[in-house]
Amino acid sequence: MKLTRMTAKEAACFIKNNDCVALGGFSPSGTPKAIMSAVAEKALAEHQAGREYKIHLNAGASVGDSCDGALSRADAVISRIPYCDNKDMRQAYNKGDIAFHDLNLADNAAFLRQKLTHVPTWGIIEAADIEEHDGTYHIYPTSATGIAPTICHIAEKGLFIEHNIWHEKAIKGIHDIYEMPNSWEHHIMRISHPTQRIGKPYLSIPAERIVGIVECNLPDEARPMPPSSDIHNTMGGHAADFVHWNIRKGILHPQHLVFQSGVGSVANAVIGAMGRDKNIPEFSVFTEVFQDAPFSLLQEGRIKGASTGALTLSPENLRLFYKDIHLYRDKVVVRPSEISNCPEIISRLGVCAMNTAIEVDIYGHVNSTKICGSNMMNGVGGSSDYTTSATLAIFTCGSTAKDGKISSIVPFCSHIDHTEHHVDAVVTEYGVADLRGKCPAERAELLINIAHPDYRPILWEYQRLSLQHGGQTPHMLTAAFALHDTYLRKGDMRLVDWNEYTIK
Ligand code: COA
Repeated sequence: MKLTRMTAKEAACFIKNNDCVALGGFSPSGTPKAIMSAVAEKALAEHQAGREYKIHLNAGASVGDSCDGALSRADAVISRIPYCDNKDMRQAYNKGDIAFHDLNLADNAAFLRQKLTHVPTWGIIEAADIEEHDGTYHIYPTSATGIAPTICHIAEKGLFIEHNIWHEKAIKGIHDIYEMPNSWEHHIMRISHPTQRIGKPYLSIPAERIVGIVECNLPDEARPMPPSSDIHNTMGGHAADFVHWNIRKGILHPQHLVFQSGVGSVANAVIGAMGRDKNIPEFSVFTEVFQDAPFSLLQEGRIKGASTGALTLSPENLRLFYKDIHLYRDKVVVRPSEISNCPEIISRLGVCAMNTAIEVDIYGHVNSTKICGSNMMNGVGGSSDYTTSATLAIFTCGSTAKDGKISSIVPFCSHIDHTEHHVDAVVTEYGVADLRGKCPAERAELLINIAHPDYRPILWEYQRLSLQHGGQTPHMLTAAFALHDTYLRKGDMRLVDWNEYTIK
């Protein structure tokens, strides 16, 4: 059966008001770009003509500006699942204009199969190559797969394939595509080292499921990472020393080091520092994003092997990856998100997870997602998938945000993504708080000691007065939130009226 070739605009004509579109790829890597840009243009035209036009959108994780940015600027989105790091879309969901549903990324595919989230009307998958085998098409994804294996059979009206020739066909063989069976089948994911393969390098799609093929030539939209700041490098150095200490203590094994590194500039700098520290032996990664810093470490031979949900490389680095792909073919595996983030595998591999916090409270709870408890930043991403199952779960964050105006160590997190029960250690530029085996009072002491010196007096006073109030995890909640929203954003202890909180 011959597949129908069409333009992105023609494909967009199929997508109607209120439809749900699910995208393959993960992060801006491997996400379809052509059709969603055309959908945004269509939305603008429809609105100009006075017609309603909005869609539901589900993707592996964040996507590029050509999708999230263009669609939100065109006011074309009703709901969005899951992680999203686009500033325009962030503004829209924090205003309440888009219903944003944050989700652990490991759960996205299962939720789709269980029909707990919008059933996609259409699926769109980006392909580096397409081969026909007796009426079935083998679709070779580009730099990520995300939820594509599930989209392939769940999208109600069928699939569009964006054949993006910007990507090299040489990527064929990098993917390990496998869809999780139902939980009641008690299936064991037989991955006992990070690059072990259990699936196929392509998606198998019956011809009748494919509505159209759109040819395009568009680079991935992952941004190059900014150079690491001194603070990031200092945190990276502390994290590396701490990992080394765990190796010396026999908690981590030098020959079986497996790291996960989170998303963003801090995580990129921390894994970079880990690689530069020659006390840390060569290591593997089992992660959901493979950013620029780990790619440099792979080139230098510091990373032995990498399993990732996406090659989240800047276009320049992805080009270099393609150029030397023969060197990486046995060392790099790109997996669907439910496998890259699978807690069962993360636990078996003894992963040391390193994610970034927005804020941490004095008892070790971590907020990764919401500014002042209300405004969503990006989403929980895979941080919970990894933190809950890791052998060692480390969070890093600068001791302050916004040029020192905000303390990242607070009395009580305004929102909690990771609880004291899963957070093993916190790293700022002032050191490491190893929270394992410590009671709340001890944890508070360790965490206040790595807060910025300007904010330590407020935090110490809060802890001292809270202890007077008693309890195993002493708090003065009214004071905690008052301090959070005001004083810890000004750094001036004289502003605090402690009399208000003292037991009289
Ligand atoms: N209060 C207000 N704003 C804060 C803040 C705080 N306590 N802490 C950080 N921010 C702001 C920063 O100022 C920055 O804002 P800007 O974009 O306007 O400059 C933004 O949050 C990002 O912080 P930055 O310091 O640049 O760090 P980052 O790029 O490393 O991102 C997270 C940090 C937490 C936002 C990011 O790692 C994330 O989204 N994590 C959740 C998902 C996750 O961990 N996934 C990993 C699984 S693989």
